[in-house]
Amino acid sequence: MSSDAQKLFTPFRLGDLELPNRIVMAPLTRSRATHGTDAPNALVADYYRQRATAGLLISEATQISQQGQGYIWTPGIYTDAQIAGWSDVTKAVHDANGRIFIQLWHVGRISHTSLQPNGGQPVGPSAIRANGKTFTESGPADLSEPRALELSEIPGIVGDYVKAAENAKTAGFDGVEIHAANGYLLEQFIKDGTNKRTDAYGGSIENRVRLVLEVTDAILTVLPKGKVGIRLSPVSPFNDISDSAPEKVYFHLVEELSRRGLAYIHVIEGSTGGQRDFAPFDYAGLRKAFGGAYMANNGYTRELAAETLDADKADLIAFGVPFLANPDLVERLRRNAPLNKPDQATFYGGDAKGYTDYPTLDQAQAAE
Ligand code: PHB
Repeated sequence: MSSDAQKLFTPFRLGDLELPNRIVMAPLTRSRATHGTDAPNALVADYYRQRATAGLLISEATQISQQGQGYIWTPGIYTDAQIAGWSDVTKAVHDANGRIFIQLWHVGRISHTSLQPNGGQPVGPSAIRANGKTFTESGPADLSEPRALELSEIPGIVGDYVKAAENAKTAGFDGVEIHAANGYLLEQFIKDGTNKRTDAYGGSIENRVRLVLEVTDAILTVLPKGKVGIRLSPVSPFNDISDSAPEKVYFHLVEELSRRGLAYIHVIEGSTGGQRDFAPFDYAGLRKAFGGAYMANNGYTRELAAETLDADKADLIAFGVPFLANPDLVERLRRNAPLNKPDQATFYGGDAKGYTDYPTLDQAQAAE
């Protein structure tokens, strides 16, 4: 039953990049940007550098504007200080022979007034509050009541994505991943549980995918299609979200994305960080509808990853939590070695502890 996982270690051409293996580091919020500027710092650069043996690194979700922020200490890509911090990160990764995309993020309604410009309300497609909490300067807080975006504000949001993509280019990223998953702004428009608009951005499937396609098209004016991917979570309820007919919506969306020739779709199969079989969904059909590279994510082990690649059900496998706790995950998977256990208490915020101090196999053996 146990496969030798050979295919995980074969190269893959993704857009313009030649990836040395099929192992991707999934985006992971770590909340260690510099307080006050939300710029990545030397510790952040060290963290990504340590993991540069991945076929591809995808940065933690990074807000495209202050309005796009939903948690304290997550990094942005809209100020000079943030661009400078990310430039140091991409240099560290490239010096270690790695490749890195940045995940572009607008949280929409998943925010708190204390994080918003002038203490205003977070924005979303409709004025529907999400059940949940975020983390603010004063600790955990209920998510704030959002207001519905005015039609006249939408071009400004698309413009913020374009500016962020330009900034990503300046900072030396190899590409960008559009975050259209996990209950954040773009998915709030896509799914009918959160989008009750009656204008051109709500109602029909065509209308609900309008914003994500406008964002994609606008980014494609500043970056070649081989440098643009997108993350989707068709059935995940993460951040209090749902859709009444996800297969219809996502097959349509992915056909549109395929026409645009994006480098990849990054698909969270099932419930984010939870059950893979949370709800039925035809991922194989979705992959076929796209045509380009299919990056699979959510709860993959070495064995499931090997089986999935061997059965030709995916091109790339993204690992989240295992990469967090194992800087040398690629080597550990290659050797079928045991993995470090992740420490939940240090996932978000803090310093090097639980961030850059997880040992590699060699370091662990040297310490024995
Ligand atoms: C989080 O910060 O908790 C977070 C961010 C992005 C995701 C999922 C979770 O896609």
